[in-house]
Amino acid sequence: MQRIFSGVQPTGNLHLGNYLGAIRNWVRLQNDYECIFCMVDLHAITVWQDPAELRSNTREVAAAMIASGVDPETNIIFNQSQVPQHAELAWIFNCVARLGWLDRMTQFKDKAGKDKARASVGLYAYPNLMAADILAYKATHVPVGEDQKQHLELCRDIAQKFNHDYGEEVFPIVEPLIFGEATRVMSLRDGSKKMSKSDVSHASRINMTDDVDTIAKKIRKARTDAEPLPTEMVGLKGRPGASNLVGIYAALSDTTSAQVLTEFGGKGFGDFKPALADLAVDKLSQIQDETRRLMAAPDHVDAIIKTGAQKARAIAEPILREIREKIGFLQT
Ligand code: TYM
Repeated sequence: MQRIFSGVQPTGNLHLGNYLGAIRNWVRLQNDYECIFCMVDLHAITVWQDPAELRSNTREVAAAMIASGVDPETNIIFNQSQVPQHAELAWIFNCVARLGWLDRMTQFKDKAGKDKARASVGLYAYPNLMAADILAYKATHVPVGEDQKQHLELCRDIAQKFNHDYGEEVFPIVEPLIFGEATRVMSLRDGSKKMSKSDVSHASRINMTDDVDTIAKKIRKARTDAEPLPTEMVGLKGRPGASNLVGIYAALSDTTSAQVLTEFGGKGFGDFKPALADLAVDKLSQIQDETRRLMAAPDHVDAIIKTGAQKARAIAEPILREIREKIGFLQT
């Protein structure tokens, strides 16, 4: 069986990177796999979250997933904390993963910053919980953006070590699914940094909730260079700002960067940016309208999440029973 698991943190607004790098690909894969999509609230609290905001963000992320085209009838959508098997398996994986493996995680280094001693233990063990999310369902494929690749390698290492230690092929070795023209959407202010929720500059990212004027303004102000767009892909080398905008255009219009250059090569940003802004507004406003419609009936969204959590527990519990048995926990 081919099963997908993927997740998104319900911290603040979703941005264009989350949509193009992950959620849009989920929509494309949903008919070919059994899919489980999760708002990872246990991951969110590895850094401080205001309780009321966490709750409303969790609901809003579910609404945005559905508005983006994830079908809540055929897929499972739920929040992580409602399925305790994630936390249980994460503890087991804390005992499987080695400190040396976690020490290599670049995301922890980025997020913890210079003062590592003040970071939560949860932030450090974050990738073990992520492996538990996936393996509690024995998922085989994980569609994510490029930035999650290292975490998925760790998930493979954990599965391999567990299988080796307990002498059986208990867990699958997951395959990352990283594809499309926007696997790594970059900051609009600095083409060498990824677009991220935690960037202090609001102008660095397009939020899925930004209104028409804000989207147009952020694209207009995006840092680029003064040269016109090249006609060939090689011409984008060493031009991170330009290459980012071309990639975003390609992803939003379902074409390739090369095709975008065929259309816009030789034109300056004075022509290209307004075209990109129109395209972004067109695509995102449809999702925004639908998100708003769903959020007007929060009980309906909550019911979807509740059903999703029930279905998720029904898959994870027999797998956890098998794991407890393998480890030697007394089960009565
Ligand atoms: P998170 O919430 O940071 O991001 C959610 C998804 O969006 C992708 N993404 C991007 N893609 C392209 N360009 C960007 N600038 C960009 N920024 C974010 C991420 O790669 C991700 O796919 N640890 C995960 C959540 C998680 C998870 C999991 C994912 C928890 N458990 C199990 C897969 C499987 C995270 O923090 O994603």
